[in-house]
Amino acid sequence: MQKITIAIDGYSSCGKSTLAKALAQRLHYNYIDTGAMYRAVTLYALQNNLIDDANTLNTQALILELLNIEVEFYFNQHTKTSETILNGKNIDNEIRTMRVNDNVSKVSAIKEVRDKMVALQRQMGKKKAVVLDGRDIGTHVFPKAELKLFMIADPEVRAKRRQDEFSSKGQYYSLAEVEMSLLKRDMADISREESPLTQADDAIILDNSDLSREDQLEYVVKLINDMQVMV
Ligand code: DC
Repeated sequence: MQKITIAIDGYSSCGKSTLAKALAQRLHYNYIDTGAMYRAVTLYALQNNLIDDANTLNTQALILELLNIEVEFYFNQHTKTSETILNGKNIDNEIRTMRVNDNVSKVSAIKEVRDKMVALQRQMGKKKAVVLDGRDIGTHVFPKAELKLFMIADPEVRAKRRQDEFSSKGQYYSLAEVEMSLLKRDMADISREESPLTQADDAIILDNSDLSREDQLEYVVKLINDMQVMV
């Protein structure tokens, strides 16, 4: 009956949150979308003119504003989904835009932002029975997580998935534009100083370029069963 912590890291648009949500639902675990937390801080910066039209961030002003930024998750019993809340307001749609995508890497590279988000993530996940997805979960946030996955996928497949997600919300971009944006974000995430994206030594690599959602879920559930954890 042991409850575990599941850490899912990887590049942008590899399907981490799709897998994390499905796992959390299957196992009756909590799901923490840590990327949504950095996106929420980025949205706050955009809404409060801390990022200008040329996408220049006023880092010091954002650090001072951190005290006024409250990010939390609310589990909606009707929709059975976890909602991202910024200062009391659901911001799930507003954080999935190209403008946020293009600015989130520099916001998430700030030490003070990361310290605040990581403290929150550790607090939310302290009772285990939790699935977290992000970039530094297995290496930094929960280095003792019992199961660590590192997800990868072909950049073209990733760009197509993200493009479909955008167009389902009425936002239209070319494949090249989407691919460029996500490769830029990957580069920023792996090269930053604070907790860069890197694979934990004990992480299992999961390449889902050719895997369906169902197949990847069953693969990970089997991994968990093989770990002889009762779920
Ligand atoms: O998973 P995502 O694409 O929603 O994440 C948005 C950005 O947030 C990503 O470009 C890097 C950053 N991030 C991070 O630095 N650390 C995390 N644990 C999660 C996300």
